[in-house]
Amino acid sequence: MRDHSLSEREDSGSYNPIARVLVSRRRLAARAAQLGAQISADYAGQELHMVGILKGATIFMADLARALSIPATFDFMAISSYGAGSQSSGVVRFLKDLDEGIEGRHVLIVEDIVDTGLTLHYLRESLAARRPASLAVAVALDKSSRRQVAVPVEYVGFRIPDAFVVGYGLDYAGSFRNLPYVGILRPEVYGG
Ligand code: PRP
Repeated sequence: MRDHSLSEREDSGSYNPIARVLVSRRRLAARAAQLGAQISADYAGQELHMVGILKGATIFMADLARALSIPATFDFMAISSYGAGSQSSGVVRFLKDLDEGIEGRHVLIVEDIVDTGLTLHYLRESLAARRPASLAVAVALDKSSRRQVAVPVEYVGFRIPDAFVVGYGLDYAGSFRNLPYVGILRPEVYGG
């Protein structure tokens, strides 16, 4: 059944930059709850150190964290890809490093999306070098058809097609992150 909450309804009379809803608010919530239960079982008896990658991961991280039944701590990193335009190059600059050390901790990297995999590959290598007790990744969305480098992703919310998606943390030019669903942006918005 389609989700007909107000925020996802066609807004007759005014321009809607979203062509269609790809993953509804309700499906996102249900999947975050499922993943939270799975992660809680996998890490039973341990404390999870969640590392959110700013800015996109914030919404998913908030949902996932609240679905956990194990203790968790938070830290955040801000990175910038040295790519041309929207293409990642795989070379990542740290704009904000972690506040705390991760040696001996059970670290879960939380991302909004994995696309080429270059960012995550770099992040995994760089955090693994700090000798955590364990390292895993949770992503809300996986555009697996775009992968350029094989990178393990232990927890995936939804596999999605190669479309320009926004919402649930994902932006276009800084906007749309706060949409409560994942939507496909109309091509004319980004000049596609
Ligand atoms: C997005 C996402 C990942 C990266 C994935 O970040 O959060 O970090 O792109 O792409 P890749 O798999 O091709 O490397 P973005 O640069 O859009 O930053 P943001 O989270 O601040 O929006």
